[in-house]
Amino acid sequence: MPGFEVFGEEERQAINDIFDKNGGILFAHGFDAMRNGVYRVREFEAAVCKKFNVKYAQAVASCTAALRIALAAAGVGRGDEVIIPAFTFVATAEAVIQTGADLVIVDIDESFNMDPDAFEAAITDRTKLVMPVHMMGAPADMDRIPAIAAKRGVMVIEDSAQGVGGTWRGKHLGTIGAMGCYSFDAGKVMITGEGGMTITNDESLFVKARAYHDHGHEYSTTVGRGAEGAIGEGFNYRMTELQGAIGIVQLGKLDMIVETQRANKAKLKALLDDGGFPFRYRKILDEGELGDALIFFLESRDQTQAFLAGMQQEGLGTKNIPDAIRWHFAKHWSHMFEKYGWYRDSYATLWSRSADILEQSVAVPIMIKMTDARIEEVAAKLLKIAKDVA
Ligand SMILES: Cc1ncc(COP(=O)(O)O)c(C=O)c1O
Repeated sequence: MPGFEVFGEEERQAINDIFDKNGGILFAHGFDAMRNGVYRVREFEAAVCKKFNVKYAQAVASCTAALRIALAAAGVGRGDEVIIPAFTFVATAEAVIQTGADLVIVDIDESFNMDPDAFEAAITDRTKLVMPVHMMGAPADMDRIPAIAAKRGVMVIEDSAQGVGGTWRGKHLGTIGAMGCYSFDAGKVMITGEGGMTITNDESLFVKARAYHDHGHEYSTTVGRGAEGAIGEGFNYRMTELQGAIGIVQLGKLDMIVETQRANKAKLKALLDDGGFPFRYRKILDEGELGDALIFFLESRDQTQAFLAGMQQEGLGTKNIPDAIRWHFAKHWSHMFEKYGWYRDSYATLWSRSADILEQSVAVPIMIKMTDARIEEVAAKLLKIAKDVA
């Protein structure tokens, strides 16, 4: 997810523009008489709507915030259950915990995303919402998950933090469920330093999300901000003009980022296939994936450790699996569950299918600035290690 690889002069110019054109007003709202008509956050939201073919977008401080305001808009609270996959970033779980709802965590399948059967089996009469997560740029099953959810009266919110620019059956990830949430943090496909967005085609969800992100503000068109009423509770999850300005520039680079990643992944995979790479790859459900990483399965935990030792020796890094698995696999989150008494004493057996998948696989990062020579070098090293551990 290398938005940071193509971050520089254009973004710097966009920030200078804020100071040159409106004297440096960084607040996204108000100051109307002083800002010379410059509203970068609003422009960024409009550009996102156009790019992803969605009606409403609310820019916020992070995707964690986007998830929280989406859950607030959906009316999730105490007594409800929300289903998420065992492989995601902790933020998905944190956002649910903040609502007071009960978290229900289900296994992934070989797509490294929520197993639709596990989702269906976990539904109870308290299930309010499901959050499929498009991990490492590849879509969860957005045919089956929404179909099951619709049949059982469960709302779908997509955690598309890692899926910005990806598609499912030609539709942008994040636009298929009732709401979608994007991340623009420093490690994502396109970046604003910190930042996120909640998108939806449903006006009433948008109005609630917008209010929640800004202390409940109703966003009146007739009175000034100070005189506005509140339409409900809220918090401060606002985005600043600096992030809005950078977001507009990065959005303009998104197609290039995605095309380059996909091409680099395809080149690496072709070289491995030509060299007889013996391991199975992650199951990709739709070619609209982002090409963020090449993930493959080893045949045992011992072989995985041997492969990783080989990678270390050859100077190759991994992407999240396994280097940051602690932050991405629910098995390691007892610190979040203890207070609620969830999942006590059962980590050894819970999510065992996810553990088998995540503990016997390796993710190789794909970068935009990988030259053909570098891709050839990585392929040669992976082939050599595979031969050594086979
Ligand atoms: C799947 C997922 N959800 C949510 C988030 C939270 O995003 P942010 O860092 O913008 O709060 C992340 C960030 O890594 C993520 O990967």
